[in-house]
Amino acid sequence: MRGMADHGTEVNEMTERIRCPALLARLKTADEAAALIGPGDTVAMSGFTGAGYPKAVPGALAKRIEAAHAAGQPFQVRVLTGASTAPELDGALARAQGMELRLPYQSDPTVRTQINAGEMDYLDIHLSHVAQHAWFGFFGEIDVAVVEVAGILEDGRLVPSSSVGNNKTWLEQARRVVLEVNRWQPAALEGMHDIYYGTARPPERKPIPLLAPGDRIGEPYLRVDPDKVVAVVDTDAPDRNSPFSPPDADSKAIAGHLLEFLRHEVSRGRLTPNLLPLQSGVGNIANAVLAGLAEGGFRDLSAFTEVIQDGMLGLLKSGVLKLASATSFSLSPAGIEEFNAHVGFYRERIVLRPQEMSNHPELIRRLGCIAMNGMIEADIYGHVNSTHVAGTKIMNGIGGSGDFARNGYLSVFMSPSTAKGGAISSIVPMASHVDHTEHDVMVLVTEQGLADLRGLSPKQRARLVIEHCAHPDFRPMLQDYFDRACRDSAGKHTPHLLGEALSWHDRLVRTGSMRP
Ligand code: COA
Repeated sequence: MRGMADHGTEVNEMTERIRCPALLARLKTADEAAALIGPGDTVAMSGFTGAGYPKAVPGALAKRIEAAHAAGQPFQVRVLTGASTAPELDGALARAQGMELRLPYQSDPTVRTQINAGEMDYLDIHLSHVAQHAWFGFFGEIDVAVVEVAGILEDGRLVPSSSVGNNKTWLEQARRVVLEVNRWQPAALEGMHDIYYGTARPPERKPIPLLAPGDRIGEPYLRVDPDKVVAVVDTDAPDRNSPFSPPDADSKAIAGHLLEFLRHEVSRGRLTPNLLPLQSGVGNIANAVLAGLAEGGFRDLSAFTEVIQDGMLGLLKSGVLKLASATSFSLSPAGIEEFNAHVGFYRERIVLRPQEMSNHPELIRRLGCIAMNGMIEADIYGHVNSTHVAGTKIMNGIGGSGDFARNGYLSVFMSPSTAKGGAISSIVPMASHVDHTEHDVMVLVTEQGLADLRGLSPKQRARLVIEHCAHPDFRPMLQDYFDRACRDSAGKHTPHLLGEALSWHDRLVRTGSMRP
């Protein structure tokens, strides 16, 4: 909270950020803006991996919802976002029991609890699909868009914030628009974005003219019809991102196996020394892999990915990475400080795009991305579960992993070989939920080793996965299962003992451990 003495400075900063007189005239408090959202509304919000989400209106809406509930009146909204947001949005609305439905990717503990308790509906959708599904009308009408921006130009165009996500679509599709102008976001973000307005519905679609990861094919600003803007809210609040844990031994080992594999691919001529555009998933392991790349002897790499994590800033700084295309930042507080201190440097090397472009299947296929994502578990045949613990409880969501895995030049999935102190094996007889089928998964990596599944039949894959990826404590059990399945299974192509295939998960649910 700033003191009274700062009031004049604050007003100046605000008018510098909101340069369009007609929109400055619509300045409202967060409470006034939240009052424009009603029960049953479909509300599309900005925000992607803890960046660029609205900071004030969701909290004010949550208070309004709580007041309605206290008065015995039902009040819930349907919430659409780019991906995960932060406690001020997902957490506040979930605590108020204010969300009837949420889509797509989320990672908020309260939201997760409510989804798994059956108190909230959740649609887990490929991140590249969300915008086009909105355009196709699959989500019904969007009543309100609440979008954070870094500024408004004289002519009403918007300087996007630290994430782009689905904002272009929300601003186009929503009947009413609330803008949060966040003075905390660096003004130097202006010019970093590339918003492509050439998308259309089939059959009018044209090829997307992006030929290299760093190409700019659109404009640096978001457009909005000023007549739809019902409120502009002034904010000054940081993005919320948690610090990354320093890479542990498992993450370092996973990164080591992956780097050795990439060097091997270069030596076999299947990749050039500056590889192909990298996509790196979210989380600590992905961050450790990026840190490993810094020491891997690679130079002049590029990234065509979803999020810019701390590890990527380091790679850009050292020249290992020459440019990165994404839709959002996902920086720790230290990463945010580094970015703000050298924003001019990063601005020239980073392009932020709408998520329908950053995750576009046709672009990923054509550019030949190397997709590297985390997983919950994989089965011996190479089916990957990215989303569900023991088949029924959602963790986060599929995010962009399916966009990249299905279409990438290489698709790699990685995880420690055990979870929860060794009680759970990440390599199981049969995946309890399948996000990525055997047809999309090329390489599996754990701290134990790497299994290159390309060109192998199911039984050949199983032998490799058990030998190279499983933890030694679980390896004999997996081998025993596989041997008996090969002997007794009705079909010998993908042998399974159907009565036993999910028994490890059943045991986990009953006893808290997969160990017998
Ligand atoms: N059973 C139960 N829990 C498991 C598990 C398993 N087989 N494997 C992992 N977990 C738990 C971990 O214990 C940890 O729990 P905690 O938060 O309570 O400590 C949590 O899942 C995260 O696992 P971690 O090993 O730290 O890896 P991570 O941070 O890389 O996350 C995923 C792994 C799968 C959850 C994460 O990568 C994800 O959400 N992926 C789906 C979306 C995606 O791939 N996006 C990328 C495109 S940008």
